[in-house]
Amino acid sequence: TSNQMWGGRFAAGPDAIMEAINASIGFDQRMAAQDIAGSRAHAAMLAKAGILTDNDAEAIREGLLTVLSEIDAGTFAFSTALEDIHMNVEARLKDIIGEPAGRLHTGRSRNDQVATDFKLWVRDQLDAAESGLLALIRALLSQAEAGADWVMPGFTHLQTAQPVTWGHHMLAYVEMFGRDLTRFKDARARMNESPLGAAALAGTSFPIDRHMTAEALGFDRPAANSLDAVSDRDFALEFLAASSICAMHLSRFAEELVIWSSAQFRFVTLSDRFSTGSSIMPQKKNPDAAELIRAKVGRIFGANTALLMVMKGLPLAYSKDMQEDKEQVFDAADNLMLALAAMEGMVKDMTANRDSLEAAAGSGFSTATDLADWLVRALNMPFRDAHHVTGTLVAMAEERGCDLPDLTLEDMQSVHSAITADVFGVLGVHNSVASRMSYGGTAPTRVREQAARWREIVG
Ligand code: ARG
Repeated sequence: TSNQMWGGRFAAGPDAIMEAINASIGFDQRMAAQDIAGSRAHAAMLAKAGILTDNDAEAIREGLLTVLSEIDAGTFAFSTALEDIHMNVEARLKDIIGEPAGRLHTGRSRNDQVATDFKLWVRDQLDAAESGLLALIRALLSQAEAGADWVMPGFTHLQTAQPVTWGHHMLAYVEMFGRDLTRFKDARARMNESPLGAAALAGTSFPIDRHMTAEALGFDRPAANSLDAVSDRDFALEFLAASSICAMHLSRFAEELVIWSSAQFRFVTLSDRFSTGSSIMPQKKNPDAAELIRAKVGRIFGANTALLMVMKGLPLAYSKDMQEDKEQVFDAADNLMLALAAMEGMVKDMTANRDSLEAAAGSGFSTATDLADWLVRALNMPFRDAHHVTGTLVAMAEERGCDLPDLTLEDMQSVHSAITADVFGVLGVHNSVASRMSYGGTAPTRVREQAARWREIVG
């Protein structure tokens, strides 16, 4: 038998394989609440515009709440033959209230319906990403505030570069996640236009009020072009793009946590709550959460690419290809929220090993730049010459197997006679970081200022 929703011109029902490739109910049932909210707004508008009687609209709106409660209770029987969430809900509404259910689809199409449902769903995810980011930023800030003056090595090429403060390193991630926050906010502001009432592609001849449904659903305004409204998936792509950048940040931090928690580094100790053991090696405590964050972000990048590929060849307006948007976004959203929560948990619980950080901060000739800067300041040496003199001293220390502060004044003077004992004042890591007072620099004073600024913003 042909489809009860669109089968008028069909003599036969679909092949089982057709049904399998066509149906989206297996995944789009996640938009049930959004679908019902959209339909309730549409029904109220149809009554206000005199297109439906108040009685029919009331029956529809009440019946839809019953459907929603069945779905929430898990008693709703989803049907693959009914393809998607839109037709499953409407068919069940007909079971419950009878004839008026058939009047709900006046002046709309599944094309504007699905765009509306999906936008509402993505909008919630933008909000969820924002709260996940805020929680993570607060956790990082607490680490930064506690360790504003703890020293650690700063790296370039993963080689010791210059000492930095723990707080400064934590705040670097606060800046990254802060930019992510603004990306999700920007995307939300741009996407908040209602597709509902664009109908199939051209608008409708019924005197509908799209401003009314837009307002009821929390949109800023109706989308201004009906063709664009039903064929636009920019909102999903912006969510995936912003998610990808955020996920990349999460992955870089996860990578640092994997390195830092190793026996060779010992910069941090992850809590038992966010680590796992080995079934054979009793000593092991593995940073699995960090590793899984690093791995899962690949799915988010994949979703971003997959949806771009789906969209890039589509002529206006709706094509069924667009049904492939949802699983990608659902999976990316689930994994982003999980990764944000796992990272927040790890950061909250982790202990920075202040002594290991400080010991590492001083090794690897990390204050060589401070020595060169001192030669410039104290002896008025051109920086290039100072660089060369310092390099000679580094080579000497390396040969002796000691660090720069371990060289004697005589050692120093054998390379450049004008060096005085004052030089030892700049070779300590605490002096080094304290001297980096330029705006945005690693000096504890600067770190505390930036931490305070962020506290103001995120509370
Ligand atoms: N299940 C469809 C989707 O996810 C709903 C829209 C179907 N519209 C249509 N004209 N076949 O995109």
